[in-house]
Order: sequence, then structure tokens, then C-alpha cells
Amino acid sequence: MTGKRRVASARASGPLKGDVRVPGDKSISHRALMMATLAIGRSNIEGLLTAEDVLATAAAMRAMGAGIAIDGTRITVDGVGLGALGEPDGVIDFGNAGTGTRLTMGIVAGHPIAATFVGDASLSRRPMGRVANPLREMGAEVVARSGDRLPLTIRGPQTLAPIEYRLPVASAQVKSAILFAGLNAPGETTVIEPVPTRDHTERMLAAFGATVRRTPSPEGLRITVTGREPLRPCDVTVPADPSSAAFPIVAGLIVPGSELVVRDVMLNPSRIGLITTLVEMGGALTMENERDAGGETIADIRVVASRLKGVTVPADRAPSMIDEYPVLAAAAAYAEGTTRMEGLEELRVKESDRLAAVAAGLAANGVPHATGADWLEVTGRAATIGGGMVTTHLDHRIAMSFLVLGLGADRAVTVDDASVMETSFPGFVDLMTRIGGTIEVEA
Ligand code: S3P
Repeated sequence: MTGKRRVASARASGPLKGDVRVPGDKSISHRALMMATLAIGRSNIEGLLTAEDVLATAAAMRAMGAGIAIDGTRITVDGVGLGALGEPDGVIDFGNAGTGTRLTMGIVAGHPIAATFVGDASLSRRPMGRVANPLREMGAEVVARSGDRLPLTIRGPQTLAPIEYRLPVASAQVKSAILFAGLNAPGETTVIEPVPTRDHTERMLAAFGATVRRTPSPEGLRITVTGREPLRPCDVTVPADPSSAAFPIVAGLIVPGSELVVRDVMLNPSRIGLITTLVEMGGALTMENERDAGGETIADIRVVASRLKGVTVPADRAPSMIDEYPVLAAAAAYAEGTTRMEGLEELRVKESDRLAAVAAGLAANGVPHATGADWLEVTGRAATIGGGMVTTHLDHRIAMSFLVLGLGADRAVTVDDASVMETSFPGFVDLMTRIGGTIEVEA
């Protein structure tokens, strides 16, 4: 799906200065398109992330009947209503998008239709059994390549059975897929979440008029959705993505003399583990102008370059910063001492094996580090950082994290494929260049 491979290099840059806004949150953008499709009538979405991953979800929703008009970051969606989705004529290509694939599996399971999903080499390696299995328990048929990998076909039954399901992995995607399926199952579907994960689905379902109950229990949070209630259209304002904001934030902390403001960043508590960690490391981050926007707290984050120190990041923080470990590794390369990150098993099944990809990129660029099955240690302030080529493995966050590493490095850091950044952060290079970063992309 991404364009031609393009090599990009980042090198030591002068102080980074300026005032920027990163694109809309990817998790919220996918969900807004999906819920608007399941509502009857028109929803307006403002600030949608118009990156490849989300555009794949828009195409999937269109293929099942939604009317979607995109004008810049303003979108109107004419939803067809729960239970009324049509069967797509062709195969749905989700490109690199794990969230789009897994959540749409839940939606299809709740309808008596069949849909076939394909994706790029990265998505085709990722495990789908974590979603397919609970949906099978509810009565959906899922046929996939061995290991429950894409290509995959899912067919929903006439009537899906509601279930109670305890999440075996801390995954908002699995939770959300089951809740989406439960929307069209008669009765109550409950997901039990032993470890909290991002709660955008629950919040947004309530805004679209679904009955969602959250009850603490000794086994974890019980999230219950009542099926077969119509969803009503809702206008959604998408806040800036904290996972994208992470790149200018870390860059501003590590490049000496920098001072930046990153605007409108969503501060949902289930997403801000990186900010907590960077503050513990001594990062000068100030939340300014904190306010509510569309049910989420947002703020402008002021970043002042700081002398960071290594810390231990506990395993229980992982779900709230799961996509930010690669860029934290870049920050840790400039911190005094060692940063230890624990509870990283899920990094093995992201767009790449992120633990292996980060370790290889650090090794190529002279950053001392050690890894185990589910942990990473990075020791900062090596005598010479940079000079290496990083393999991105079709992983946007590996590409952007290592370009950030390069902005503070002694020698250039090169990534083998900059085009992958289009999946989540169109305009990354322009934004970083505008604040003073030196990033060159091969023509
Ligand atoms: C996401 C959940 C996380 C995250 C992904 C987006 C979501 O995945 O890594 O980028 O929008 O629900 P898991 O649910 O696999 O942890």
C-alpha cells in the first residue's frame, strides 16, 4: 500500500523551536468511522487522521455500505445502521493496519455477511487468532492461513451469541472487536480486562448512544455492552495523537537548546505512560491550557531540552505506552545511565517484532543495550551515536523513532524506508524540518 521505498537520514540539528500540531489520533479515527457507519444517519468527524491506515478503514466501511465524504480532515459519514451492513463485493485490503483489521472483524461477525481481508507483508505476519477465537465462540466462522494469519475470511451467523470473555492479553484491539461484535448480539456481551488498556471504544460507544457499563471486579474491569440497540449519529472531534506527538516531544528533549510547544495532545490516562516516564527521567514537560475536547482531556505540551537520566519503566505501565517504546529507546540513548523497560512481550507482535527491530537499530548506531524475551535495557551517552542503517520492517514507528535518534546523533542515522511513515503520520518529515530538524529523504 505504501509508495516506493525511500531511504531517509537524520543528522544532528540545531535547537528545535516552534509550535506544532501533530495529526489526529489513529485509534479514535478508526473507531469514529466504524461507529458512524453503524449509526443510522449522518455523523461529522473533524480532525480525522487521513493516513493510509485510517483510509483503509474508510474504504472498508464504504465497501459495506457507508457513504463517506472526505474533505481534508473533515469527514461526513452516512451510516447504514447496526445489522444493515452489506456484504463487500471484493476483498478488503487493510494494508498495514492491525487496528482496522481486528475491529472490522468484530463488526463483520455481528452481521450475516462474509468478508475477506488481506494486508501487506507486515500485517500478514500478525496473529489474528486473539480476535478470531472469541468471535468463533460467539458463532462466527473464521478461516485463515495457518497461525490464524491473513488472508482471512470471516462470516457472521444470523444471530451471534453474546459472551463473557476474559482477555488473555492486554489488548484494546481484542477488547474492541468483541464489543463491536456484541453490539449486534441479543443480550449483554462482557469483556473482562485484568489490565486496563485504552478505553476509546467504551467512551465513544457511549457517545453514540450504546449502553456500556464498566464495573470493577476482583478479576479486573468488566465492560458490558447491551446488544441490538440502535446507535445514533454523533459528531466527533479527533484530538492530536499522543503516539505521534511522542516524536517531536522526545526530539525536543534530546536536542540541546530546544523549546517547543506541541498543541492539542490527547491526555487520556490510558495513553500517557510515555509522558509519565519522560518526566521521571527529568524531562521538562509542562501541560498548558488543559481542557476538555469531545470527551477527552487535551493540552498543549511545552517541551524544553533536558538532561535525562535512566529509569526503570515498570511492566504495568506497558499498555499505556505500548506504541512508544521505540521512541523511548531513542530518548534513553541520550540519558545518563541505563533505562530498563519491562513487560514488553506484546512488542513482538506489532507491525514488526519491535523489540528485535529496536535492538538491531540501536546496535547499528552504537547504542549499548541488552534485551530478553520481554525486556530492553538501553545505556545512554555512548561516545559516538549514529552512523548506521536501520531496517524498518514496514514499521512506521521504527522509522520515525530512529530518525528522532539521528537528530541528536554524532553521525547520521539512516532508515531504509521512509514511505512507511504514511501509515500513521503524513507530513512527519515536513513537521520535523519546520522546527529545525535535519532530515533528508532520497528523491
Ligand atoms: C490500538 C491498540 C494497541 C496499539 C495499536 C492501536 C487500538 O494494540 O498498539 O497501535 O487502537 O486499539 P493492541 O490492542 O494489540 O495492544
